[in-house]
Amino acid sequence: MKKKNAFFDRFSPKKSFVEAGFLNGLTDIHSHYLPGVDDGFQTVEETVQALSTMVEHGVKRIYFTPHIMADIPKNRPGFLQERFAGFQKEAPAGIELRLAAEYMLDVGFYAQQEEGLLTLGGRHVLIEMSYLSPSPELINVIYDLQLKEYVPLLAHPERYLFMDKAQYSELKAKGCKYQLNLMSLSGQYGRRAQDVAWFLLQNGMYDFVGSDIHRLNVFMHHVNRIKLTLKEQNLLQDLIRQNDLLW
Ligand SMILES: [Fe+2]
Repeated sequence: MKKKNAFFDRFSPKKSFVEAGFLNGLTDIHSHYLPGVDDGFQTVEETVQALSTMVEHGVKRIYFTPHIMADIPKNRPGFLQERFAGFQKEAPAGIELRLAAEYMLDVGFYAQQEEGLLTLGGRHVLIEMSYLSPSPELINVIYDLQLKEYVPLLAHPERYLFMDKAQYSELKAKGCKYQLNLMSLSGQYGRRAQDVAWFLLQNGMYDFVGSDIHRLNVFMHHVNRIKLTLKEQNLLQDLIRQNDLLW
């Protein structure tokens, strides 16, 4: 049976993420649509246009996950909730929206925990760190979050240039979940991130998948460019199913 699957996989035409129908019904768990609060979309019009495009493609549910980090001090839960509530009046019909956040593991993260975290589905906390150097607090943060019954979810692990295969396994064994950035598969963040993303995907290391969208045209360019064999489509389908559990 394995041989047969390999045969079909080899000769089936590859499909892009869009051609495979993966936007249809998707729950996106990582995005920067909330206008004017971080390096993502800047105006209400841009966000509305992007969301309308997602509705056309059948995207069903989206978490807005603006950056919360010491470098953007105004981004506190109360402020973001207010902006989110204001934006929802402008949002196109046909799509459900929720607010969470992407937390940078910097000096402010402990204070953020005190203030109350914006989570995915009540328990999962989307975290990120510097791409260039390891966060000395990472292991402690993972432990602390778990003590408080949160589930740490590391955004785009493929983008951290200092991580090696052993570290990916070690963090995973400590209970940290991994979220693939879709655009890593087509090289948006460079060759190394692309290679690591395919390695982690093919080795079943990811738990969820997100767009991490900042600009509509960049995202659409990449989701049309990612070419997937049947086997790779199945791997992504599994992650997409997991995303639904966070709603
Ligand atoms: Fe992000």
